[in-house]
Amino acid sequence: MTNLNVKYLGLDLKNPIIAGSSGLTNSIENLKAIEGAGAGAVVLKSIFEEEIYLEFAHEFSKLGPMDNNLEFLDYYDYQIKKDNLKRYLTLIKEAKKELSIPVIASINCLTAHEWGFFAKKAEDAGADALELNMFILPSNLSQTSQDNESMYFDIVSRITSKVKIPVSLKISPYFSNLGGVIRDLSFSEIKGLVLFNKFYSPDIDIDKQEIVSTDILSHNSDYKLTLRWIGMMANRVNSDLSASTGIHDWQTVVKMLLVGATTVQVVSSLYQNGFSALTGMIQNLEKWMEANNYSSIADFRGKLSMDNSTNLAEYERVQFMRHFGEYK
Ligand SMILES: Cc1cc2nc3c(=O)[nH]c(=O)nc-3n(C[C@H](O)[C@H](O)[C@H](O)COP(=O)(O)O)c2cc1C
Repeated sequence: MTNLNVKYLGLDLKNPIIAGSSGLTNSIENLKAIEGAGAGAVVLKSIFEEEIYLEFAHEFSKLGPMDNNLEFLDYYDYQIKKDNLKRYLTLIKEAKKELSIPVIASINCLTAHEWGFFAKKAEDAGADALELNMFILPSNLSQTSQDNESMYFDIVSRITSKVKIPVSLKISPYFSNLGGVIRDLSFSEIKGLVLFNKFYSPDIDIDKQEIVSTDILSHNSDYKLTLRWIGMMANRVNSDLSASTGIHDWQTVVKMLLVGATTVQVVSSLYQNGFSALTGMIQNLEKWMEANNYSSIADFRGKLSMDNSTNLAEYERVQFMRHFGEYK
């Protein structure tokens, strides 16, 4: 009997395949369909403090100097934020009522105070866990890498001092000492790290000579960076690792588990192929396990991590050098 159960963030998942945070996880109808397709858990769309702010930015701009408009600022702070937050908390409550798989809420805030506030609200609404969608673009030239990194640790400790539910952190690969930061974050109060978020990047339309948005969805070859870093960090960290970006098929799910991921998160493939993509991944993972005589995920998880590898060079090689010199 093949058993796909895993423990992620201390929660019991019937399989390691999670529907990641996106516009698809923002309605109760979709969440039910995702559960119906067999997902092990779901991460809700992030609530973005910035988005709430931007929605009303035009109102701010009409007002003139902010200090004359304390009334409106108060209104923004208490009423508008409250309405958006209320909608999100209703989604969490409904999801908890309707679904039996774990429901992970996701937040993205601007200030340390708001992170703590939103986190507590999500916990009170019944979320099983909280994923912090945190990204500080390291473009502020007056900040050192130490300043940037400290912000992550400060926010993590502020949030984990406010909530009892498990907290995971979804990060980007843009740290100057990525391995060290992953290790240190894993020894903080968080229970899981999601490697990595994919960010929207601007492109240029050369006909209109304008900045445009492209590549909202990932490609099926975009998983390699995640694969390398999960593989290099597995067994050297103190938290679960969840793989994100470029997981489009069951073969990539197997690869991520082999290098040491506890779970995988799927988004673009669901946009392209519908929620039944989850069912296909789960069924084929099970078939692959049967064909290889594995009765549980633990039987092979991390088998090909760097820690278990006899050939470290396969992970650490970054230059092509002579090795691929004869490549035609
Ligand atoms: C349309 C869209 C919306 C997304 N919204 C969020 C979000 O609200 N919060 C978040 O943490 N990630 C968000 N993501 C990122 C995904 O959760 C995921 O990390 C990323 O798309 C890489 O996974 P994939 O290759 O399976 O798409 C979004 C992605 C897409 C495509």
